[in-house]
Amino acid sequence: MAALIEVERLDKRYRMAGREVDVLAGLDLRVEAGEFVAIRGASGSGKSTLLHLLGCLDRPSAGSYRFAGQAMDRLDDEALSRFRANDVGFVFQSFHLLAELSARDNVALPFLYAEKPEFRDPDRIDAAVDAALDRVGLGHRAGHAPNRLSGGEMQRVAIARAVVTRPRLLLADEPTGNLDSATGREILDLLATINQTGATLVLVTHDEAVARRAHRQLELRDGRFL
Ligand SMILES: Nc1ncnc2c1ncn2[C@@H]1O[C@H](COP(=O)(O)OP(=O)(O)O)[C@@H](O)[C@H]1O
Ligand SMILES: [Mg+2]
Repeated sequence: MAALIEVERLDKRYRMAGREVDVLAGLDLRVEAGEFVAIRGASGSGKSTLLHLLGCLDRPSAGSYRFAGQAMDRLDDEALSRFRANDVGFVFQSFHLLAELSARDNVALPFLYAEKPEFRDPDRIDAAVDAALDRVGLGHRAGHAPNRLSGGEMQRVAIARAVVTRPRLLLADEPTGNLDSATGREILDLLATINQTGATLVLVTHDEAVARRAHRQLELRDGRFL
C-alpha cells in the first residue's frame, strides 16, 4: 500500500540576489498514515520550506511528491487548493489567528474552503466547530478574541482550526517555539492525542526535547536527511 507521504529526490532552489541557493537537495521522505514524525534541523536548514512543500503551499524545483498515492505535480492550482483545504491542517509558531474574529470564528474559517460531503450542512459545521474547541479544552472560551487569550490558549485555537475539517495530515512548524516549556509540553500532549486519534503528524523543531516526543526523528542537514 502507498504511504501517506512519499517524497523522492526533492529539490528546492531559491534565487537570491542573483544567485541560486539549494535549500533542499535530493531529499527523500516516506511517512506512513498515522505516524508522528519530527524533523529537526538548525535554523535555516529548510524545515519550513519542506513543510510548505508537503502542504502544497509551494511547488518543488524538482523531484516527486505523492500523497496517498496521488502525484501532486500533476494537480492544477484548483486541485491543489482543494488538497490544502480538505487534507492538510497547519499549525505555526506564531499562531496566525485573525485578531478581529472570536476564537470560534477563527476555528470556523477553514469551512470557507473545505468541501467535504459531511460538512455541507451548516448545523454539521457548527457541531464540528464546537467539537474542535472542546477537543482542545477551550469550549468555554469560544467567544473570546485572541488578544484575550494566553499564548497556550491561542495555540489551542490554532490547533482546533487546523483539525476542524478532519484533515489526514497535520503539519506543525515549531508549534511550541513561542511558549514557555510547561505550556509547550501541554501543546505537545494535545498534538500527540490528535495524532493518536487519526491525523498523521509531521512536526518541525530545532528543539531536541520536542522532537523526542515523536515516533520517529529525522535530522535535516545540507538539504537532505542525515
Ligand atoms: N521565499 C524565499 N526566498 C528566498 N530564500 C528563501 C525563501 N524561503 C526560505 N529561504 C531561504 O531558505 C533557507 C531555509 O529557510 P527555512 O526553510 O525557513 O529554514 P528553517 O525553517 O529550517 O529555519 C534559508 O536560507 C532562507 O533564507
Ligand atoms: Mg522555519
